[in-house]
Amino acid sequence: MPTILTSVRAFQRLDSRGKPTVQVEVETKDGKFRAIVPSGASKGDYEAIELRDGGEAYGGAGVRQAVQNVREVIGPALLDRRYDLEIGLKEIDSFMIALDGSPDKSDLGANAILGVSMACARACAAAKKIPLYDFLAGELQSSPHRYIVPVPFFNVLNGGVHSGNTMTFQEFMIAPTGAASIAQGIQWASEVYQALKSIIIKEFGKVATGIGDEGGFAPPITQPSEALDLIMAAVKAAGHEGKIKIGIDPASSEFFDDGYYDLGFKSDKPKKLTSTELADLYRALVDKYPVVLLEDPFAQDDWESWKYFHVVSKLHNVELVGDDLLATNIMRIEKAAEADACDSLLLKVNQIGTVSEALAATERAYELGWSVFVSHRSGETTDDFIADLAVGIGCGHLKAGAPCRGERVAKYNRLMDIEEELQAKKIGSSYAGKSFRYAHSQAKSE
Ligand code: PGA
Ligand code: ZN
Repeated sequence: MPTILTSVRAFQRLDSRGKPTVQVEVETKDGKFRAIVPSGASKGDYEAIELRDGGEAYGGAGVRQAVQNVREVIGPALLDRRYDLEIGLKEIDSFMIALDGSPDKSDLGANAILGVSMACARACAAAKKIPLYDFLAGELQSSPHRYIVPVPFFNVLNGGVHSGNTMTFQEFMIAPTGAASIAQGIQWASEVYQALKSIIIKEFGKVATGIGDEGGFAPPITQPSEALDLIMAAVKAAGHEGKIKIGIDPASSEFFDDGYYDLGFKSDKPKKLTSTELADLYRALVDKYPVVLLEDPFAQDDWESWKYFHVVSKLHNVELVGDDLLATNIMRIEKAAEADACDSLLLKVNQIGTVSEALAATERAYELGWSVFVSHRSGETTDDFIADLAVGIGCGHLKAGAPCRGERVAKYNRLMDIEEELQAKKIGSSYAGKSFRYAHSQAKSE
């Protein structure tokens, strides 16, 4: 007896910024399976299009049209097709891509399509009677030979378009690579986060402990070195020196204009840098602090700067991650590979709009010898899908915000559940730790 969809429902719900988003619930004989779609603020130009209603309700951010597209177009068409969920997700996703017919999912909406894709992934896993991470691993041709629990990169200081302070760079992340398990890594990160709070209170007063969109603090600082000094002091105060590395996402497309990077874009004083000057700034930061990962240091179409800086990042052993640059899109990945512009794919399922295409992008990145870094969005929900995704593809690291705020900790809590589940079943797994960057290729070659 095949397992088929018996209903597909959709609803308008809220994300962590209080903005509307799409929730989908599909039903099979195994039960009901739900997914809620995230949304970015520093969106790239090459992302699939999420439909927003415009008009007055919710300041134009409503998703009633996307919800209606699931209810009236995608849902009925899928019910008609009677796909067997035990076979997998690819057929369903390909059908939705064809049904939409546009190159960027702007017809039915990436938010509509992705909600169905994620909910169906859960239904497929249930049909096969396996956990979601196992199902996702099986959908990947080059699935790892053992379970790898990813190193979380916690965004503890928020800037850019995610906060109200004058910090230009968007994200400063701590990565407990020296921990022995994810439970220990999460504990250390939480301790550093609390130490950081105490330091911020001492330096700037209690009023400065407000947080940004991803749960990190947003004290009144501007310079990246101020952020990194605060973090290093917190790591020391928490007693974890040498065991925690740093990742930075400047999200530089947000402050690139007319050939210059304006580090003063959040204040009334412009501070325009050429890409060479910005590269020098990165180089100085990488020399001084334990930075292991740099994401979107240059704007999404500033190819020459990416190419130049990739030579530098390789010398410094820093992972160079393309977010807006790649938009989880295979065509952009090919372009970047040809230009040798970066060596890591930031994987955001809603940038491309189906789970299967996100897995195909992963596959291609692995073929190229790249790393893959799974990511949440700044507008999140308590949906913990990406925790299973990171384990399933064995990519060794993910970012899901600070160890704070429900929609962020949902992912970290799920990862601890998975770690314990694997331990209880006596299934071999390992925390990626220092091998986070090439965890997948190492596991493949064992
Ligand atoms: P976004 O930010 O979700 O607002 O795009 C995340 C990122 O830039 O990595
Ligand atoms: Zn980014």
